[in-house]
Amino acid sequence: MEWPDPQARLEVESLQAYSAPLEGRRGLLRLDFNENTVGPSPKVVAAIRAIPAAHFAIYPEYDGLREAVVANLSDRSDGRPGLGRPLLPGQIGLFNGVDAAIHAVFHAYGDRGERLLTTSPTFGYYTPCALMQGMEIEAIPYGEPDFAFPLEAIRAALGGLGDAADPSAPPPRILLICNPNNPTGTRLAPEPILELAAAAPQTLVVVDELYEAFGGDSVLPRADFASTPNLLVLRSLAKTAGLAGLRIGFAVGAAAVVDRISRVTGPYDINSVAVIAAHAALADQAYTDAYVAEVRRARGWLVEQLQRFGVRHHVAGGNYLLIWPQRPPAEVEAELRAAGILVRSMAGKPLIDGSLRVSLGTSEQMQQFWRAYAAIEPVL
Ligand SMILES: Cc1ncc(COP(=O)(O)O)c(C=O)c1O
Repeated sequence: MEWPDPQARLEVESLQAYSAPLEGRRGLLRLDFNENTVGPSPKVVAAIRAIPAAHFAIYPEYDGLREAVVANLSDRSDGRPGLGRPLLPGQIGLFNGVDAAIHAVFHAYGDRGERLLTTSPTFGYYTPCALMQGMEIEAIPYGEPDFAFPLEAIRAALGGLGDAADPSAPPPRILLICNPNNPTGTRLAPEPILELAAAAPQTLVVVDELYEAFGGDSVLPRADFASTPNLLVLRSLAKTAGLAGLRIGFAVGAAAVVDRISRVTGPYDINSVAVIAAHAALADQAYTDAYVAEVRRARGWLVEQLQRFGVRHHVAGGNYLLIWPQRPPAEVEAELRAAGILVRSMAGKPLIDGSLRVSLGTSEQMQQFWRAYAAIEPVL
C-alpha cells in the first residue's frame, strides 16, 4: 500500500520552487545572470589554493570578517562616498549570498496575512520569500516610458502618506526596494529612501544594493541606523568581486535588526572557502574597482552602438541593459546561445515583455556580443 506524501505547510503546498536556467553555462559568454564575467582577483584564487586540506574538516570561523566588511565599506578607494557614520561589526550580518539574507529577512519579519510592498518588475526571489511566509504582495509598477521609480504610489501604499492611502490598512511589514533595480536599472536617490524609512517606522525598509557599484546610489553614506533602525541594506561580493559561485552576502543595519535576521540562519551557513575568499576580495578592492570601471566603459561603448543603429534599448544603473529585438526575443536568445553568448529573455515580465536583458562585461566581451547580435538582428 502506498502512503500519501506528507504535506508541507499550506503556503509551501501552493509554492513553486524558484528556478533559474543555471545549467550548461560554462565555457559560454555569460551575459544572462549579471555576474562578473572575468572571475575574481588572482589574490582570491591564491588564498583559496593555499587552504590546507585539513581545514576542510573544520567548521568555518567567522572572526574578523564583519570587521573587514566595515573597513571595506568605510575606506572607498574608488573615490565614491563610503559611510556617513561609523559602523560596528554587530551591524553586519553574514549570509550565504544575498538570497539567503532576503530569505532570512522574510523568515524573521514576514508573517501570514502581512504585506510586502515592492515594485514591478523587480528581482524574482522576493515573491517566493513573501509567499512562503503567507504574506500578501503589493507590487507597484515602475512608471512608463522610462521605468521611473513610483515614489508617490509607494508613499501612498506605505499608509497615511498620500491621497490614495487607506488609513485603516495596517502598514506593510516589509518594503523592498531594489536599487538600482534588476532588471530595469531604475535608480533612486538616498534621500527619498531615508524619508520613506523615517515616515514608516513599523515597516522594515530593505534596500537591495547588489548592483550599486556599477552605477547606483547607495543609501549607506547617508544612513543613520540609530534614527532609522528599520532600514536594512543588502550588499554582495557576487557581481562585483566575482564570488557568485561561493555564495557570500551581507546585511547592514541596526545591530538589533541584524541580530534578529541572523537568528533564523544556521550557525555554519557560510562555508569556510567563501569566508577565505571574502577576506581576500575585501582586501583587494582595487581589483574590483578596476573591473567595475571596465564594465562602465564597456557600457558606454555598447550604448553608442545601440544609439547609432537605432536599436531600442533602456539603460540606467547596474551592470545590465535591456534591448528590444525586432524579431521574437526567444529566437534571438536561442541564436545568440548557438553563437556562444547567453542573454536573458524578459518574456512575461510586466512592462518589459519582449526585451532581452544583456549583462555587461568587458569592452572586448561587449564587442563580441555586438558582432553576434548585429549578425542575427537586422541592425546594420
Ligand atoms: C537584485 C538581486 N538581489 C540579490 C541577488 C542574489 O545575490 P547573491 O548571489 O548574493 O545571492 C541577485 C542575483 O541575481 C539580484 O539580482
